[in-house]
Amino acid sequence: MTDLVRTQQRYMEEQWEPSPWLQRSTLTPWADYAWHASLFACRRHLPDDLSNHTFLIVQCGAGDDTHFYQFEGAQRVTITDISVRALRVTQQHCDNPPAVIADTQHLPFRDNAFDYVGVRSGLHHLEHPYDGLAEMHRVANRGYFFVENQKTPLVPLLVWMGALEYEEDAGNQVYRFTRGEVAQFLGKLGAAHYTIETAWFLQIPPLLALSKYVPGRFPLVLFKSLLFLVNRVFGRLGNAFCVVVQK
Ligand SMILES: C[S@@+](CC[C@H](N)C(=O)[O-])C[C@H]1O[C@@H](n2cnc3c(N)ncnc32)[C@H](O)[C@@H]1O
Repeated sequence: MTDLVRTQQRYMEEQWEPSPWLQRSTLTPWADYAWHASLFACRRHLPDDLSNHTFLIVQCGAGDDTHFYQFEGAQRVTITDISVRALRVTQQHCDNPPAVIADTQHLPFRDNAFDYVGVRSGLHHLEHPYDGLAEMHRVANRGYFFVENQKTPLVPLLVWMGALEYEEDAGNQVYRFTRGEVAQFLGKLGAAHYTIETAWFLQIPPLLALSKYVPGRFPLVLFKSLLFLVNRVFGRLGNAFCVVVQK
């Protein structure tokens, strides 16, 4: 185990506060969409019926992405993380999926063990994010997907404004991916069919806290339309991207 893994493990066991946004049923429609927009972007490329497929969600954290896919119909989900506490929190909130302690860079599963493998906001925690991606490729039978930070010329400005970070509380540097780099690596892995979508994906808790004051259907339509427009025009410079690979 490397120092970085040990440091993050200690942080997760001793200092981490699980996200309060887990319960989709308690969010108003537009807040639910805002919090999960990046996951919806992946979801669009997965089969309509998720119940027949096995899923591995790596780096489950508090289980937000696990909960999302279960809510969308996935029934056979396994989770991994380096933190026992993260696995327990996710199990409590997500219908008790089987849990395995594992470093994403060395997954303890055979090749093609799961139909789909995915993660949101996990790979940037790794010392070698592309080793983690290669492992996801190896254990996925039909496909894999991830949501991550994009490296753009705006990043230094956004960090200076306090909207983004170079280093997180867990002790990891925030690795930011570029389209070209990901495409090149997927090519090396032999992945022929994939989509890379860059966008502005909001994950801002104070904004979501406002959601209880604007309930109802209209704000969702308005919010989706605004986000769609912003991403049509400025999506290339977005803070994040979503990659879905079909094997
Ligand atoms: C931001 S959280 C993940 C959030 C979650 N995927 C979601 O959508 O809410 C990052 C997680 O990565 C885990 N982690 C950090 N380094 C890891 C490693 N090398 N292998 C596996 N998990 C790791 C941390 O314990 C933490 O739970």
